[in-house]
Amino acid sequence: MSTSRRTVIAAAAAAGLAAAAVGPGAGEAHAGSGDSAAPRRARFGELADGTRVDIWTLACGGIRLKVLSYGGIVQSLEVPDRHGRPANVSLGFADLESYVERSPYFGALIGRYGNRIANGRFTLDGRTYELPRNDNGHSLHGGDLGFDKRVWRVEPFTRRGEVGLVLTRTSPDGEMGYPGTLEVRVEYVLTRHGDFRIDYEATTDRPTVVNLTNHTYFNLAGEGSGSILDHRLEVAASRYTPVGETLIPTGELARVAGTPFDFRRAKPIGADIREGHPQLLFGRGYDHNLVLDKGITAEPEHVITVSEPTSGRVMRIATTEPGVQFYSGNFLDGTLAGTSGRVYRQSDGFCLETQHFPDSPNQPSFPSTVLRPGRTYRTTTVHSFSAD
Ligand code: GLA
Repeated sequence: MSTSRRTVIAAAAAAGLAAAAVGPGAGEAHAGSGDSAAPRRARFGELADGTRVDIWTLACGGIRLKVLSYGGIVQSLEVPDRHGRPANVSLGFADLESYVERSPYFGALIGRYGNRIANGRFTLDGRTYELPRNDNGHSLHGGDLGFDKRVWRVEPFTRRGEVGLVLTRTSPDGEMGYPGTLEVRVEYVLTRHGDFRIDYEATTDRPTVVNLTNHTYFNLAGEGSGSILDHRLEVAASRYTPVGETLIPTGELARVAGTPFDFRRAKPIGADIREGHPQLLFGRGYDHNLVLDKGITAEPEHVITVSEPTSGRVMRIATTEPGVQFYSGNFLDGTLAGTSGRVYRQSDGFCLETQHFPDSPNQPSFPSTVLRPGRTYRTTTVHSFSAD
């Protein structure tokens, strides 16, 4: 990002974005960055069993983030436009009941396994495990009570130039059919450079499979502002994993060249979405894993850029992961009213879920999602915001 762009973001923070997040008694602004606010907690609601759900608000680098202890949900992500005006660029709800009753994974932390496992079944070390079939006979996003529907322990922290939250949870052996007690630790971090970073970690006491991600739906013009089809998307992926009718990968790594899946040069998301490509019919649009050319990396590498022409907002994504599920909000159908009360219609938001490939436990040629005792699962994804 250029210095001038960073300056716009820092100026926006100074002008009130961060100040609004601080409020009276909200903790001290972080020394050094001058624009951060220590995380503060408020009550968001209560689950049917009386469990309190908190909403945490934190700000740094011109970005303001709100996170729920329920589902580790990114409830709001405010980012300045080219004039320094903030807007919430993530789809969501204003109340807990909507998240519990009807959320299509808005903002949620997904586990134990992001995306689908075919027929809700996999075999590991000769043993077959059965998972809940919550999506056309397949298991989606960890089953019907995945990590998106659990209450997480949340601890705030403030470091030099960063503020964040540590979310932890012990997923018991056998939860949703998955073997092993899984200790999960996820950090949501805002940096003074306008980055929102997510660090995932997990360990197990028995061999298992893990594929964690975050399911934020973005609209860089602001949630509830309409379609994302004019957003320009660029992804460093020469291949993708085609799927069958029920969105299970066929196992092939097909070339994107000459297909609507070619985002190697920036183009509007809507440019080819109405092409009669059979893969687009299966997903009612894009709902596909793009195979990142860089593969698995020890450090996050920049692979995706999304820009929104009217606001000038730009989001760059760097990840350690080998794939990204690109979902163009196909199943939004005008039946949900979002955070600001506006209705979400088809393609009013998009997801870029960085992760391993769908159904890897049943696809021997895909990068492995197996985690064994003594090893630590570790992945990182960074969303960097700026404005042009
Ligand atoms: C993922 C899936 C989609 C859909 C959405 C949530 O992106 O691949 O098919 O389930 O989550 O609606």
